[in-house]
Amino acid sequence: TSGLQMQIKELGDKIGTRFTLIDKNGVVIADSREDPKLMDNHGARPEILSARSHGEGNATRYSDTIGIKMIYYALPINRDGNVSGYVRTSISLSKIDERLAGLKETVALGAGLAVIAVLVLGYFMALHFSRPIESITRVAESMALGKYDEKVAEEREDEIGKLARALNLMADNLKERIETISGEGNRLKAILAGMVEGVIAIDIDERIVHINKAACEITNTSFENSIGKPLWKVTGLQELNDILEQTITTKSRVEKEIKVFKREGSRHIQILSAPTLSLDKKISGAVIVLHDITDLYAFERVRRDFVANVSHELKTPVTAIRALVETMVDDTDMHEDDRLRFLKKIEKQSIRLATLVGDVLTLSKQESEKGLLDGTRLDLKVVVNSVIQALSTASSARDISIESELPAEHVLINGDEEAVSQAISNLANNALKYTPHGGHVAIRLKKVGPNVLIEVEDNGIGIAPEHQQRIFERFYRVDKARSRELGGTGLGLSIVKHVAISHGGGVEVESEPGRGTVFRITIPRVS
Ligand SMILES: Nc1ncnc2c1ncn2[C@@H]1O[C@H](COP(=O)(O)OP(=O)(O)O)[C@@H](O)[C@H]1O
Ligand SMILES: [Mg+2]
Repeated sequence: TSGLQMQIKELGDKIGTRFTLIDKNGVVIADSREDPKLMDNHGARPEILSARSHGEGNATRYSDTIGIKMIYYALPINRDGNVSGYVRTSISLSKIDERLAGLKETVALGAGLAVIAVLVLGYFMALHFSRPIESITRVAESMALGKYDEKVAEEREDEIGKLARALNLMADNLKERIETISGEGNRLKAILAGMVEGVIAIDIDERIVHINKAACEITNTSFENSIGKPLWKVTGLQELNDILEQTITTKSRVEKEIKVFKREGSRHIQILSAPTLSLDKKISGAVIVLHDITDLYAFERVRRDFVANVSHELKTPVTAIRALVETMVDDTDMHEDDRLRFLKKIEKQSIRLATLVGDVLTLSKQESEKGLLDGTRLDLKVVVNSVIQALSTASSARDISIESELPAEHVLINGDEEAVSQAISNLANNALKYTPHGGHVAIRLKKVGPNVLIEVEDNGIGIAPEHQQRIFERFYRVDKARSRELGGTGLGLSIVKHVAISHGGGVEVESEPGRGTVFRITIPRVS
């Protein structure tokens, strides 16, 4: 028995575990820690009872023998099918706790390492994926705000790199396209702004989309006060709105002339309104073009008046001549004196007719030769002398002296001799006509800077200030009856003005009623 006890003790020490051998009656035969003789019968221990009935048993309790908490494990020893005893092993719980603690440490260390690994990995993942996506998002956002200069780094070869390249390409294309569009827009705006015609673009809700400067002026508004607002509200022009309405409902062009009242007076506006169509041929609004034709109107009126005036002026002498001739034809035995008187009247009316036709022809000739005449060089001294010569009969008949003040040297201009001669002659003729008997007329030539000044002065009846500018108009006469009586046509001064202007100069009048008049023509000299 003691040999067995020795072996068990050795084994127990070797593996650090307590072993107990128990016979089938519960008597301890050997124990690796204690003297079996001192130990109780173990037959009633729970692990032994369980081993006997179930083939194995374990229990946890305080050991009476060694006084610490132990885990016991027992197995029956079988011989020839009968239980001949039990072997039991035990280990103190503290030892297990010790081992468990060790295990916990390992687990904690492992978990800690895992956490660090996850963090490190996460950081690199972030660096690798979310950072680039963030910067792509930022660039996309700034693109949405219209900034196309920010770029994404695109050196990567993966999907993110592809995305970055696609985004950068899109930004470049968008930038280019927007620049083209805004460039075209600016060009269009510049063209519209420079146009003489007013242009208003209207959308389908009859609101103003664009209005150029000329249109703003015509409709008394400003760009800022018009955009996005209804046309009628901005212009207050009912007729314009009616035209727009008609354009949109009939989907066709509308043309009309309207009158717009402004502080400076009324203006004639020609309106052309056309519908605008979208790509799918639906009406999308209208474009209205406003053309201020007030000047054209005035010009047209002058023309009409001129034709009416000429007809009227022609009618008077023609009617007179016809009446005189008819009377002479009817009255076969007319007295010789009357016949002579009638003929004299016919002659006077014929001369008047010829003068009128001559003046009208001169005017229309001047008008068709618009611009500066490609004239020849002529000496005004010669021209003035010949005009005075031609008027000598008329002046002496009216007992009016014509004196001339001419420079010693030549006064040269480039021009049409006939026209210039007629202009000076017209002024001198007027001076004679509107100056009472015994008056004085002076014709002067003066060099003033680069110009020559032709002055025709009289001490006649003068012209009241309110007529002084109008006498240059065609057929304008201060006293119609008097002018006619004196053989005037009312065209003389308009011819003078035309000649002066077509020679690169001008004409002015200075006059005081009852004292006299000075006309001054200025024409550039040549050397
Ligand atoms: N020297 C002048 N003194 C006063 N009135 C003048 C003089 N010259 C022109 N006028 C006025 O200007 C008008 C226009 O002149 P003009 O065109 O030459 O026409 P006309 O002499 O045929 O009447 C004249 O009718 C006259 O009333
Ligand atoms: Mg005249």
